[in-house]
Amino acid sequence: MSIYILGLESSCDDTSAAIIQDNKILANVTANQDVHANYGGVVPELASRAHQQNIIPVVHDALRNANISKNQLNAIAFTNGPGLLGSLLVGTSFSKAFALGLNIPIIEVDHMDAHILAHFIYDENKQPPKFPFLCLTVSGGHSQIVLVKDKSSMEIIGKTIDDAAGEAFDKAAKILGLPYPGGPYIDKLAKDGNSKAFKFPHPNIPNFDYSFSGLKTSILYFVRDRLKENKNFIEENKTDLCASIQFTIVEILLKKLKLASQKTGINEVAIAGGVSANSGLRNALLAERENSGWIVYIPKFEYTTDNAAMIAMAGYFKYLKKEFADQKIRPYTRQK
Ligand code: KG4
Ligand code: ZN
Repeated sequence: MSIYILGLESSCDDTSAAIIQDNKILANVTANQDVHANYGGVVPELASRAHQQNIIPVVHDALRNANISKNQLNAIAFTNGPGLLGSLLVGTSFSKAFALGLNIPIIEVDHMDAHILAHFIYDENKQPPKFPFLCLTVSGGHSQIVLVKDKSSMEIIGKTIDDAAGEAFDKAAKILGLPYPGGPYIDKLAKDGNSKAFKFPHPNIPNFDYSFSGLKTSILYFVRDRLKENKNFIEENKTDLCASIQFTIVEILLKKLKLASQKTGINEVAIAGGVSANSGLRNALLAERENSGWIVYIPKFEYTTDNAAMIAMAGYFKYLKKEFADQKIRPYTRQK
């Protein structure tokens, strides 16, 4: 008999609901929050208010798209952290109340684990990664290299000591006057630019760790100085700037990933998280398939940025092990 799980994601600024039937996604509905665009970043209070407005409609739509009734659900899986407290509270409270009403269990899911487990969502054209594999998990809040030993055993072997890769994209985009979140804009504009036009420095950080705050500062000063000479500098060089910035971020990411692969001897390599949507990063990974003989795993676009399908997938694995949460469970803001 099939297991049906409702997955809910509300850790940041996307309210998302998904229905999974075993490991197959039947529906994945996301309400994005445009309200933050004017502020150049996510405003936590506005995010939680928007989650309140969106959560019932997205759950309703997910059930309708999956063509199942709420009474068919076996469990509700929700993001319990890390994330913004007010945002998480909307998803966790809703899940607890809905599950209580339906008399079904709740399953807590870690957002970062779920980004990785999105690779296990059934796809007739793809095989999931084989254990152990390395996963470069890059999003707006995190950048880390994870040694994935098993679905429930993940070790962070490298992480950023300051900004995340997504933040580096977004902050660079802000300097160039692009809307928030700027990662996808940089990606788009970079396609028409010369990635060698401008050179930005790499951080000098030991082991598998990352740092992106120096890059942001160097872009800021570089652009500021050029604007003094030519007030149209950004406009005249936008695509080259985007291509060069993207090239640098991807180079920084790949350097440590290659080191991790060499040191661990693992050549099964995956990417996950919002930044894994980036075409430069995807191409760089594919190039390593040729150069380093990596077996690479690139997620479907819809499972890169925040989504509930990945929460439902992670929830299904816990359901199989009967790892249910108590109603007393509380969200956490920082990665455990
Ligand atoms: O995983 P995610 O949706 O949310 C967090 O958990 O943080 O990641 C969002 C981040 C943002 O910084 C956004 O700019 C970045 O992912 N992003 C991209 C692209 N699409 C999303 N960065 C570069 N290129 C993209 N195509
Ligand atoms: Zn995320």
